[in-house]
Amino acid sequence: MKSTLMHPGFLVLTTLSFCIFSPDELWLTRAQGSSMDVAAGVNLSFQDNYVVISNGIVQITLSNPQGYVMAIQYNGINNLLDVINERNDRGYWDVVWSDWGDNGTTGSMERLEGTHCDVIVQTEEQVELSFSRMWTYSIKRKLVPLKIDKRFILLRGSSGFYTYAILEHLAEWPSFNLDYTRLVFKLRRDKFHYMAVSDHRKRDMPSAVDRSSERSKRLDYPEAVLLVNPIEQQFKGEVDDKYQYTCELKDLGVHGWISKDPLVGFWHITPSNEFKVGGPTKPELTSHVGPTTQTLFSSAHYGGNDMVLKFGKGELWNKVFGPIFIYLNTISKTKDLLMLWDDAKNQMFVEVKKWPYDFLASKDFQSASQRGTVTGTLLVLDRFITGSHSIPAKGAYVGLAPPGDVGSWQRENKKYQFWTKTNENGYFSIPNIIDGEYNLYAWVPGFIGDFRNSKIIDITPRVNINLGDLIYEPPREGPTLWEIGFPDRTAAEFSVPDPDPKYLNKFLLNYGPDRYRQYGLWDRYAELNPLHDLVYTIGKSNYTRDFFFAHVLRKTGIGAYAVTTWTIRFSNYNFNKSETYVLRLALASAHKANIQVRINDLQKLPLFSTGIIGGDNAIARHGIHGLYWLFNIEIPGTELYSDGMNSIYLTQANNGSHFQGVMYDYIRLEARQTRH
Ligand SMILES: *[C@@H]1O[C@H](CO)[C@@H](O)[C@H](O)[C@H]1NC(C)=O
Ligand SMILES: *[C@@H]1O[C@H](CO)[C@@H](O)[C@H](O)[C@H]1NC(C)=O
Ligand SMILES: *[C@@H]1O[C@H](CO)[C@@H](O)[C@H](O)[C@H]1NC(C)=O
Ligand SMILES: *[C@@H]1O[C@H](CO)[C@@H](O)[C@H](O)[C@H]1NC(C)=O
Ligand SMILES: *[C@@H]1O[C@H](CO)[C@@H](O)[C@H](O)[C@H]1NC(C)=O
Repeated sequence: MKSTLMHPGFLVLTTLSFCIFSPDELWLTRAQGSSMDVAAGVNLSFQDNYVVISNGIVQITLSNPQGYVMAIQYNGINNLLDVINERNDRGYWDVVWSDWGDNGTTGSMERLEGTHCDVIVQTEEQVELSFSRMWTYSIKRKLVPLKIDKRFILLRGSSGFYTYAILEHLAEWPSFNLDYTRLVFKLRRDKFHYMAVSDHRKRDMPSAVDRSSERSKRLDYPEAVLLVNPIEQQFKGEVDDKYQYTCELKDLGVHGWISKDPLVGFWHITPSNEFKVGGPTKPELTSHVGPTTQTLFSSAHYGGNDMVLKFGKGELWNKVFGPIFIYLNTISKTKDLLMLWDDAKNQMFVEVKKWPYDFLASKDFQSASQRGTVTGTLLVLDRFITGSHSIPAKGAYVGLAPPGDVGSWQRENKKYQFWTKTNENGYFSIPNIIDGEYNLYAWVPGFIGDFRNSKIIDITPRVNINLGDLIYEPPREGPTLWEIGFPDRTAAEFSVPDPDPKYLNKFLLNYGPDRYRQYGLWDRYAELNPLHDLVYTIGKSNYTRDFFFAHVLRKTGIGAYAVTTWTIRFSNYNFNKSETYVLRLALASAHKANIQVRINDLQKLPLFSTGIIGGDNAIARHGIHGLYWLFNIEIPGTELYSDGMNSIYLTQANNGSHFQGVMYDYIRLEARQTRH
């Protein structure tokens, strides 16, 4: 059965399907065969340089005072984490950071290490531990200028534990860039071989040694390798790349690994997206070969440098990341291992329902009673689609994010965001909003552009604000003369080619919409268009078949790439020389690209250039979108022919390296027509 669930402060999870089992089929998340009493209270014990918490189901050992997760004991397995690794390399929080002024998306990796361990809560019901560190200047060891407080919570009867972190930058501390913030677990390589990140992407996985240079061949970038001589021959000839396992945040409620002997699942459950960055459609890494499983809280993935948190002089900042629930499950009798996946999905819904959790001790995490709700109805008025009346904006994404410009939410990365989707009537309700000031933002599949309600919304405890009817009027000057694609901020509707058989990954064949995740599609453009660039004729061509999903460069030699020019041809439109026409160019992604627009004469200077834009790297990362861009370009009627064929030339003119290019979302030519 398909379920749709409103994720509090989050989004609808529509891609996950729920399974209901009869009571005797109930997978027991409690440890089977364990002699301990499952209803036991939570124990805490301090040893030499570590601390152990247990509840009879799970036992967690943390280094003291660093707060590294050294061991997780469950279901008779002494440690689910990889004991071959050093004790600070099994379960940890880390950041990648760089000095102020650095424009990149990389820096140095630092595991967040506590210097104090405090017991925040210790009852039979719950233990909450804090591993914290102040920041001080040190010549010997340069540390990220953040105050760190990592928390771990174990509840009575719970088959797993919660972890969250409070990070703080004080005004007097150095400026710096925070590129990535993560929670990572490295699981036992002898046990965890099966990975699940979504209903359609779950499989036996190659092992970490299969990626070694003896067993694999590096492809276009280090993350992607061809498995030439894997330990298990079934993986021979497959590509391995962690970016094939990314999910959009809205679909990333649960992911993890399964051990087949004994049957144990290890899952990251994300109960809310309020603490993530970039909005509901930002793609993010999940689990990958290792076996590694992680949650990224902030990252440059599919956004580039714009997504890096830059802390300037005097900037005071504080944010709660998480909690994430690390959920462990098992089944008594040997049954289908996918029951563990189904159970983990069920548990994800359980956690979502409990949001915001009422058992966190930190004052920085707001309880339900400190939060507010915003409701309203979004309508859309585009007189050339909806007529003179507005219609409900169905399935629109509506979110509260810090005050900013139209569309600013997709680059916002320091505060909290709260998103949902409208129902059939355009109605939305966003509960559990942390106090503070926001704008309401939205975008509507089927319509271009971004909505922002200019009113500043002030959320105070328990407030319930009904915004009534909000009307989005997308950019529009006149009737559509022609259009290519569907405006929904992805290139998924265009022609996504079959992969080169050398790089085919069979697991991506299970589900048609995953086609774009295959490796090497960027080189398929030139292979499929060897003699000339893409020509698309309005009225004849079909964008599903004939419009390549990414406007890439043409490889001409080693390190050499030719500029490519796509042509859109159209005729018989009776253009009026005294009128102006408008070209809507919506991009789903851009990476160091410069799209030049010329009309009917390739030799002339461009009528319009985007300039060099983007750094989302979605082409190389098997994405179908990165950040959204909309360009509105005026074309004087004098440039167009009323009789004969017109051509709009789109040139990707920046040809320095392999992965430069754009993905179009949607292109439309409009007449400009004044309202009568
Ligand atoms: C808690 O500690 C007590 C005393 O050491 C022990 O008897 C009990 O089994 C422990 N319970 C759990 C759940 O570890
Ligand atoms: C960072 O980017 C800005 C704007 O593109 C540029 O002016 C500046 O020189 C760059 N700084 C570095 C260190 O590359
Ligand atoms: C375009 O091509 C697709 C795929 O071949 C097909 O399903 C669709 O019906 C075509 N559309 C039109 C308008 O011909
Ligand atoms: C980019 O194109 C120009 C003009 O065709 C060419 O001279 C140059 O070598 C190309 N650059 C690369 C890196 O291929
Ligand atoms: C062309 O546009 C001008 C200016 O809007 C208008 O006056 C004229 O009637 C139009 N011509 C035709 C043939 O529609």
